[in-house]
Amino acid sequence: MMKQIFFLFCFASALTLSVSESKISASLKPHVVESFDVGYIKMKSEQNCSYLVRISTSCSSPKFTTDKISIAFGDASGNQVYAPRLDDPISKTFEQCSSDSFQIDGPCASPICYLYLYRSGPNYNGWKPETVKIYGYDSEPITFTFNTSIPSDTWYGYNLCDAPPPSSSIQLSIHKLIVFVMILGSAFSIWM
Ligand SMILES: *[C@@H]1O[C@H](CO)[C@@H](O)[C@H](O)[C@H]1NC(C)=O
Ligand SMILES: *[C@@H]1O[C@H](CO)[C@@H](O)[C@H](O)[C@H]1NC(C)=O
Repeated sequence: MMKQIFFLFCFASALTLSVSESKISASLKPHVVESFDVGYIKMKSEQNCSYLVRISTSCSSPKFTTDKISIAFGDASGNQVYAPRLDDPISKTFEQCSSDSFQIDGPCASPICYLYLYRSGPNYNGWKPETVKIYGYDSEPITFTFNTSIPSDTWYGYNLCDAPPPSSSIQLSIHKLIVFVMILGSAFSIWM
């Protein structure tokens, strides 16, 4: 009986260890995406989901911008949300030091693990986003930090969908722990 309780305890701690390690590394940087095609949009789910997207523009961005901005984001199973135009010269979107919110509808993607922006406009006066925060329909909001001028005429952003496990050394130590527990368990059963 003791042994079973001990096993259960160790299994639970191993589980806790692995769960608490699923954070996104802060050292990741946005990048240019070579092989991204929004024409390829799968509508896997029939549902319509609504997202709130909050984009803040850096204070070192131009005072205003005439750039055309598109956004695409989604999950690892191919549910993609795409909005071809977010900019709007009339409502003065993406001005320096400002924040703009958009409601975007699309397929139900969860959890969101990639986000790309597309900017078309002159390079000398390019829009500089600071952060993009997406409030999903059933998950915690996720924030992607840019804080950099984004190149024009290319999809640019993050893909964390098939990021390697956060830390392989942690994985290794869990394996070690399990082996350790098993050895300890056999030792116990010999003693008892
Ligand atoms: C999503 O909602 C719109 C408007 O209610 C509707 O026209 C459309 O067919 C819906 N799409 C799906 C895939 O359910
Ligand atoms: C972006 O960069 C500016 C200036 O370097 C800094 O003050 C600001 O805190 C940064 N924002 C984020 C979200 O990292």
